[in-house]
Amino acid sequence: MDAARFDKRGYPVVDAATGYDEWAATYEATVATGLDEPLLDGITSVDWRAMHHVVDLACGTGRVGARLAAKGVGAIDGVDIAKEMLARAEAKKLYRSLRVGDIAATDLPSGSYDLCIMSLADEHLAEVAPVYREAARLLMPGGCFVLLGYHPFFLMNGLHTHYHRADGSAVSISSYVHLHSEHFRAGLMAALSLVEFNECVIDEEWLKTKPKWRPYLHWPVSFAVVWRRDA
Ligand SMILES: C[S@@+](CC[C@H](N)C(=O)[O-])C[C@H]1O[C@@H](n2cnc3c(N)ncnc32)[C@H](O)[C@@H]1O
Repeated sequence: MDAARFDKRGYPVVDAATGYDEWAATYEATVATGLDEPLLDGITSVDWRAMHHVVDLACGTGRVGARLAAKGVGAIDGVDIAKEMLARAEAKKLYRSLRVGDIAATDLPSGSYDLCIMSLADEHLAEVAPVYREAARLLMPGGCFVLLGYHPFFLMNGLHTHYHRADGSAVSISSYVHLHSEHFRAGLMAALSLVEFNECVIDEEWLKTKPKWRPYLHWPVSFAVVWRRDA
């Protein structure tokens, strides 16, 4: 469902490609890294060093690619819809390939990846089923799909992904609420098996990364799911 129905801020809304092209220059300095980094580090079902072929869906500036490279994964291919985000990823020189495209319909080869990862992007997709199908298509048998997402409860709290323009004005990026049952159905329909599911709740430690979010202490803010394509 369109997150606009829960919006409490009333910022102007732009589509993902427009918004991230504009946000790219300041994205890494302003994104709430507490949303996905602790969850990524907490995943226990993936042997990162055994992930020789990785695809990073909605790779953005390559922030997650850099984290995966530090964990010892092999070659990483990235896909994103925003050219300005991809330019930052390119500059990191970490990716084997980068392409502009829709993560729900890439032109990457089927059955080629041990690991497919997508961080902080599902809220920009009107439907999650197509990207689950695409992840399942890209994975080798036994491969993992790791999805890190902004928590649907937090979006329903009216706080949508937004950034500030150079003049200080705030802009929201169009967002959708996907309940966890939607993810569950989409994974099953794509013939994936759920192997891990974690949620992140804002606590005192978390607030050190974004002190302004104190009013949301105890709110669930993000989640991680790990799926496996059966061998
Ligand atoms: C919050 S950023 C996350 C970027 C990166 N994964 C990270 O965690 O830093 C969301 C990204 O999703 C991309 N995106 C949104 N919808 C997309 C789509 N349909 N196809 C490809 N990329 C998309 C945006 O361009 C943006 O780079």
